[in-house]
Amino acid sequence: MSQHYQHDILVIGSGAAGLTLALTLPEHLRIAVLSKGNLANGSTYWAQGGVAAVLDDTDTVESHVEDTLNAGGGLCRIDAVRFTVEHSREAIEWLIDQGVPFTRDDQTAREDGGFEFHLTREGGHSHRRIIHAADATGAAIFNTLLEQAKLRSNIELLEQRVAVDLITERKLGTGGQRCLGAYVLNRASGEVDTFGARFVILATGGAAKVYLYTSNPDGACGDGIAMAWRAGCRVGNLEFNQFHPTCLYHPQAKSFLITEALRGEGALLKLPNGERFMPRFDARAELAPRDIVARAIDHEMKRLGVDCVYLDISHKPADFVKSHFPTVYERCLDFGIDITQEPIPVVPAAHYTCGGVLVDQNGHSDVPGLYAIGETSFTGLHGANRMASNSLLECFVYARSAAADILSKLDQVQAPAPLPSWDASQVTDSDEDVIIAHNWDELRRFMWDYVGIVRTNKRLQRAEHRVRLLLDEIDEFYSNYKVSRDLIELRNLAQVAELMIRSAMQRHESRGLHYTLDYPDLLPEAKDTILLPPTYGD
Ligand code: FAD
Ligand code: SIN
Repeated sequence: MSQHYQHDILVIGSGAAGLTLALTLPEHLRIAVLSKGNLANGSTYWAQGGVAAVLDDTDTVESHVEDTLNAGGGLCRIDAVRFTVEHSREAIEWLIDQGVPFTRDDQTAREDGGFEFHLTREGGHSHRRIIHAADATGAAIFNTLLEQAKLRSNIELLEQRVAVDLITERKLGTGGQRCLGAYVLNRASGEVDTFGARFVILATGGAAKVYLYTSNPDGACGDGIAMAWRAGCRVGNLEFNQFHPTCLYHPQAKSFLITEALRGEGALLKLPNGERFMPRFDARAELAPRDIVARAIDHEMKRLGVDCVYLDISHKPADFVKSHFPTVYERCLDFGIDITQEPIPVVPAAHYTCGGVLVDQNGHSDVPGLYAIGETSFTGLHGANRMASNSLLECFVYARSAAADILSKLDQVQAPAPLPSWDASQVTDSDEDVIIAHNWDELRRFMWDYVGIVRTNKRLQRAEHRVRLLLDEIDEFYSNYKVSRDLIELRNLAQVAELMIRSAMQRHESRGLHYTLDYPDLLPEAKDTILLPPTYGD
């Protein structure tokens, strides 16, 4: 039997964004936080480098703003950048208050009790401004926030619940536009339950799983973007898919990132013959923004016909390397690579979705009562290329502003009337799951081949043709068979892929992460790519 639930706030996603929002709201509100796997299955847990913020007396808001704008290729929204950076310090102080064990810096411990945490550096940043917990910052933040959430009796943490679609007044035909809740697959019972709420928050992370090779965990399927699109929200800048320059290249190493902080602390990129190449591409060399470094690696790999390049930190003292990068050191050692003695084989892989659900400064989307925060959103902060470690910062800043906005509107919004149950009367059990697996593989491969680091009109047309065929096939499958996690994710991935391709086709220039051989130049005016869903404005 499917269940009906009623909460004040429904948070879909248990990463940095979702947990921060839940913890920021007052304890008299009943809050459900859903995760489609275990609670740690989002990208947050895997974040390595840290969180960018203006924390040091020698750093300034202006400098962080300027670096973000430079990395963003002329497309950042200045108000979003300023808002985020101006709130960076208080977001970090909130995390410290929650108990996040950031790495301390004995050398800068100050007698006046001032800021005493170690700050590292990453690409695009002109200052040391990345606060971190060694090279496992995400795990430290996630574990701390989860512990805090478990102490709160008003927060219900629900694992293995996959949101299928949002419930809106428009879909129910009851008049109005408001979001009222969501249908959610309970993986334990196999039933689709109904969650009603006064406010719904998408904190579902990114969509890098649309590519064959990615640094992201398995769930990064763009579910929130696809659900918001179907609910009538605009999406923006989905052509800007960030490829992290350095993921470990090893047949058994699925998705292991080698943090950019290695380059921040002096690691050098080298060709198989030991020659450095980044100075040929950018004066900032290894510390150029990610789009430039990933493209340079891609160029050199294709030019030389090699499978990987190398990242070398072996010239630094072994103790320094082991203490700053214990996770990377241990993981590489598992694969027989001692990073204190030899270079690390690396390749670029899909890492971050810069675009997403269009929101305002409070994380509010086009649909009343529906918020999108964290990687699933498009705030305008990242422009055409996200600067390293600005992502977690965005999660905290916008989760906190969304919480404040919800609080200011609480009195005006009552609980929705009982919602209809999910209708499963027309579907049967699938006897052809192989189609799902096949389509997953096909989608991710053609996105990698045709919508990757370097694009052309022809490649995008091929991708468009294929994604349309897939969407039709998936639609038919979805209408006839019971939903499963794989089917829900495939449907969303294909939808988001189609939006990415469409966005890429609309951009007739090369800017930031979108690089196409057919339009290698920059247009004089920087414009966002905003897509309107068919139901927009109905
Ligand atoms: P996530 O942490 O991805 O969480 C998504 C949540 O949504 C999960 O709980 C998932 O189960 C849930 N969910 C998704 N779909 C559904 C659904 N349909 N139903 C129910 N639940 C659903 N950024 C930085 O700023 N600094 C770093 O050092 C850094 N390092 C990184 C290293 C790696 C390896 C990766 C992959 C990313 C890194 N990033 C970093 C990016 C950053 O970690 C992410 O952008 C950020 O953690 C996203 O947080 P989030 O809360 O938006 O989503
Ligand atoms: C890294 O540690 O290199 C990832 C940082 C980020 O994605 O911001």
